[in-house]
Amino acid sequence: MGLEKAIPIPVLNLCRRTRHHQRHIPDPISASCPPYLKQSNHSLYCISCHHMPYVLRHQTILYKTMIEYIDIPGFPGKALKICSDLSFKTMSPIQFFSTNGHPQGVDFKAALLMGQAPDKGLFMPEKIPTIPRKLIDEFPKMSYPEIAREVISPYLGHLVPDRDLREMLQDAYNYEVPVERAYDEKYVLRLDRGPTCSFKDFAARAMGRLIQYFLKQEGRSILILTATSGDTGSAVAHAFFGLDNVKVVVLFPEKEVTDRQRRQMTTLGSNIFPLAVEGKFDDCQALVKQAFVDPELSQLNLSSANSINIGRLLPQAVYYFYARSRVAAPDQKVIFSVPSGNFGDLMGGLLAMKMGLPVKRFVVATNENDEFPRFMQTGFYEPIRPSKNCISNAMNVGHPSNLARLFSLYGGQMDEIGRVNRQPDLSAMRQDLYAVSITDEETRRTIKEAFSQHKVLLEPHGAVAWAGLMRYLQRCGDWRGCISLETADPAKFPDEIVRATGINPPLPPAMARLDELEESFEKMDGDYASLKAFLRRFF
Ligand SMILES: Cc1ncc(COP(=O)(O)O)c(C=O)c1O
Repeated sequence: MGLEKAIPIPVLNLCRRTRHHQRHIPDPISASCPPYLKQSNHSLYCISCHHMPYVLRHQTILYKTMIEYIDIPGFPGKALKICSDLSFKTMSPIQFFSTNGHPQGVDFKAALLMGQAPDKGLFMPEKIPTIPRKLIDEFPKMSYPEIAREVISPYLGHLVPDRDLREMLQDAYNYEVPVERAYDEKYVLRLDRGPTCSFKDFAARAMGRLIQYFLKQEGRSILILTATSGDTGSAVAHAFFGLDNVKVVVLFPEKEVTDRQRRQMTTLGSNIFPLAVEGKFDDCQALVKQAFVDPELSQLNLSSANSINIGRLLPQAVYYFYARSRVAAPDQKVIFSVPSGNFGDLMGGLLAMKMGLPVKRFVVATNENDEFPRFMQTGFYEPIRPSKNCISNAMNVGHPSNLARLFSLYGGQMDEIGRVNRQPDLSAMRQDLYAVSITDEETRRTIKEAFSQHKVLLEPHGAVAWAGLMRYLQRCGDWRGCISLETADPAKFPDEIVRATGINPPLPPAMARLDELEESFEKMDGDYASLKAFLRRFF
């Protein structure tokens, strides 16, 4: 697509005022507008996609504008339409930049639809908006979807009208989010009540709705390529199941997901294409990343639903706000313990803290894949290859993608293969994060003890977090207000639960018929050529 072509089309009512002074100006895109941005009747511009960032920079001077891609007969690629809509918010959208340093920023919509930045980095917001403390103090009176709107909308600016965003979130979060007291002020946040019974539903459902919304606006379709260590695949598959403008290809490590995790992906059919990969989650993730930057696949319109997509992280900031609002006094700082694999969940929490959530510290609890706890101790990062097989299988990650984001948050720079080009501020990290690795033996013991001592039924991932919290409290002293995240329903891991507690966890209604449904999936070697051959079918 070239810079040269610009097609003017007639009239849409563009309001010509500056945001701050409400002053009329003669030309909304200003005199410095490059010649290839043509204007017609002060209102509508049609240009190639390449100009989007330029317009977005300048669009901040406009008053209540709306931008969307449109098709124009005879025009190669997409054109950009700018028009006014008085129901839109006045905020300009936050720009997202690649952790690999590409100078061009994009707005949330582009970052969401692209998934990964073109230079293989991950998108991070240029600035993290803060939520005023007064508003956070109102959260105890607000519902989950209402809090979600306050947390997510600052990143969207005017890209989604408020009414539409509220509707989407109301629809996405139609299940309960219990904060269960274990003892004293120690709580378990249960994130397992969504349709696929893991915390991945929180992100997938909001993201699915936002992607749908933007695709409809643009009349586009995409192919979502996602790697899963067990739970992302099913959450994403369910969030997009049956849609005609989205196809989902899910790569999962054949031997490292439980039967029920696999069945949640392989019993849907329709637009969902599961691929059992001979390899590990890290292999699946590497294959997906390679496909994203393969120019021969560019016509597929690939996007990602892994936590490499920023669209996953923002909804994951919400439940930290929600959980604290249910248990803490107005000025109370809380501790969160987060079971961590690819570090997307933790990044949601860190975004929440940077947005103003009063948090004393995050316990970052990994299984025996302890590359991050070791980095926190030594300052030296070394991925674990291959990753170790632990019973908290969804956290068997030897090089977490989101470390690139974590490092950038603390002033460092890590590239996509885990090379540290700039060290982050380790002392600031150590102040915010307490990293701990939990063995399988401790995980099993924790499942048993949490049940016998507190009547709290945990599955292996939640048990890693709970064990991490207990370790923190022993080492650093007791703290009022601790919330440990339980990220999946115990019924997804029946064997381990029966072994530790003697209890066969009841199947939640969402999984009730799962064991009876017929499965359909393909198998694939763990090499890129096989994936590419598979994807060529979608051309
Ligand atoms: C049940 C469960 N808990 C914890 C995690 C770890 O989350 P993250 O990869 O965002 O660190 C996962 C990730 O797949 C998961 O499925």
